[in-house]
Parts: sequence; structure tokens; C-alpha cells
Amino acid sequence: MVRTRILGTGAYAPQKVLTNQDLEKMVATSDAWIRERTGIRERRVAAEGELTSDMAVKASIRALEMAHTRPEELEAIIVGTISPDMPMPSTATFIQAKLGAKKAFAFDLSAACAGSLYALSVADQYVQTGKIRRALVIGVELLTRLIDWEDRNTCVLFGDAAGAMVVGPSEAPERGILSTHLHADGTAAEMLCIPGGGSKYPQSEEVVAKKLNKVAMQGREVYKYAVRALPEAVLEALAANGMSTDSVDHVIAHQANLRIIESAMDRLGIPLEKCWLNIDRYGNTSSASLPITLDEANRAGRLHPDDIIVMMSIGAGMAWGSALVRW
Ligand code: ACO
Repeated sequence: MVRTRILGTGAYAPQKVLTNQDLEKMVATSDAWIRERTGIRERRVAAEGELTSDMAVKASIRALEMAHTRPEELEAIIVGTISPDMPMPSTATFIQAKLGAKKAFAFDLSAACAGSLYALSVADQYVQTGKIRRALVIGVELLTRLIDWEDRNTCVLFGDAAGAMVVGPSEAPERGILSTHLHADGTAAEMLCIPGGGSKYPQSEEVVAKKLNKVAMQGREVYKYAVRALPEAVLEALAANGMSTDSVDHVIAHQANLRIIESAMDRLGIPLEKCWLNIDRYGNTSSASLPITLDEANRAGRLHPDDIIVMMSIGAGMAWGSALVRW
């Protein structure tokens, strides 16, 4: 089997910046509380009329340029998102049309903040088996439209963004994705969910009035789960490849919360300097977080050939996992 390489990365974040000071005027919170508990200073908010697919297309164009790939060459578009343009059809199909990627099959995948990692793992299987040669993997989220802006427990955390990766077979067999490990635990579903709008509580005036169509979160429980699951997933990836934490050059982490990242890195015994951080500027962008972080590190020239990169991500479900990459 061939190995899958990440051939190009791209990111996009909307122009509008919402600072902690702006939030102080909206809910009973403070810049100091938000920074101390989460590390977030500001986040981006999509413009009126800007869609999830619009953001994804902008990130994708950048990734395609870097990968020297034309949209017509794409054979698959896999999108991790829980904030689609519409409930049906998939956002991936809108992206396919906007890019003109006529040859690509396209679908969305729902794994919340772990969506882009799940999507990368799926694309990896297709490329490894030789079924396809070019896939576009996207993590995109427009969560600011799914948040209760009166709930200080959640509204300070999230932001909008899109990240993309173009993947294809590696020409150097030792370089590329070494493994992916995915996990889920549906018994923890109520820790973080949008209860309304599906078959359980179909869209209704009551659902809207009770704000069941907005993100609900047991923050402390999510925190405890994340700081245990993330290091476990990283150690699993390293063990599967006969490596130790000493082998790791870079950690590309889902930017949920600075304290979660610090705690996970501490448990792993990997210095925080090995982890690219942007939570201060974007907040938690859910599935977009991993690919925009990878793109920033990549474009900053931090990633060198043969560097070992471990990715880790967790989100609602709970759904989480890791990927190990030789760059
Ligand atoms: N501003 C000021 N006070 C606040 C705010 C706010 N924005 N939000 C909550 N508080 C208050 C609470 O009401 C509570 O007040 P009380 O003691 O009077 O009841 C107090 O602050 C402490 O609340 P806790 O929830 O216990 O605070 P905690 O230290 O756990 O921090 C946080 C909250 C930041 C949400 C933390 O639990 C966390 O990071 N959890 C992980 C959640 C997360 O990352 N979710 C993202 C999605 S999932 C993912 O991506 C992995």
C-alpha cells in the first residue's frame, strides 16, 4: 500500500474580529476571566450572508495552490462540519460546485471538533488503497450562528474559520501519514450537544424559545475528558509506530482551550514550545482548528522534511483521535 501525504494546506478566517472587550458589553464576563480560563483574546465572526461553504472554498483554493492541484483533479471532497450550509444536501456538494471539482464525490462527516481528523483518516484509507489519487479534506465551522449569545458559558469560546488539506500518494514511501487512530464514546454525548433541530426535538417555536437549537455544554466535564483522552490518543499513535514522545518534533492540537493543551502536553512530557498555538486569535474553531493550525505552522516554515508531527483532536460525541505524520 502507498502512504498518504499532505501535499498542500490552506486556511481562511473571516475579517470581523470579536474581542473579549466586545464580549464584556454583551454578557457578564471579563477579558481577564476569558484569558485566564481559556487563553482566548479574540475570535472571528463570519460576515452576514457568508456561508460555511464560502469559507471552505477560500481555504481550499489556498491548499490546492500549494499542492499544485487543479479542482478538476480532485476525486473526493470530505468535509468535517457540524455547521453546514443546509441540513441537506451536504456542504461538501456546495463546495464541489463552487470549486468546479466535477470529478469528485463529496460528503460531510459529523465528528464535531474531531471532524477534520476523522475526515483525514477516511481520505487516508482511500489513498492508501489506491482508490483515489487526490482528495480535499476540509474542516470548517460557522459556529457563531449556533451559539446562544446570552450564554456566557459557551459564547466566549467559539469562532468561525475553515482549514483545508490536499492529500495524495507519497512519492517517498517513508514520508506521509504513518497512522490515524479514531475513538468515540456516545455515552458522553450530553456533555456537549445541540439538542434541538433533529429527530429528537424537531425545529419548532418551542425548540427556538428554549434555545435547544444552540450549543449546550458541561464545560468542566468536557475539560476532564479531554485532558485524559488526548494524551492517551497520542501515546497510542506513538506506540503503534514504535516511537516515544522524544520522537515528536511538532504537536498540532485542536485549539479548544489553552489549559487543555497545556495539561495534555504536561501529561505527555512534551515541551509546550513544540505545539503551535493560535487559540488566542481564533478561539475554538472546532473542526477547522486542526487544519488552520497545521497551515500556520507550515506557512511559517516550521515543518521540515522528515519531521514527526502528531495531531490530536477531541470534540462532541465524544469523538477524538490522533494522527502521526512524517512530514
Ligand atoms: N465569564 C465569567 N464567568 C464565567 C464565564 C464567563 N464567560 N463562564 C462561566 N463563568 C462562571 C461560572 O458561572 C461559574 O460561576 P459560579 O462559580 O458562580 O457558578 C464560574 O465561572 C466557574 O465556572 P466553571 O464552569 O467551573 O469554570 P471552569 O474553570 O471549569 O472554566 C471552561 C470553564 C473554560 C468552559 C472550562 O470548563 C473548559 O475549558 N472546559 C472545556 C470546554 C471546551 O473546551 N469546550 C469546547 C468544545 S469541546 C472541545 O473542543 C474539546
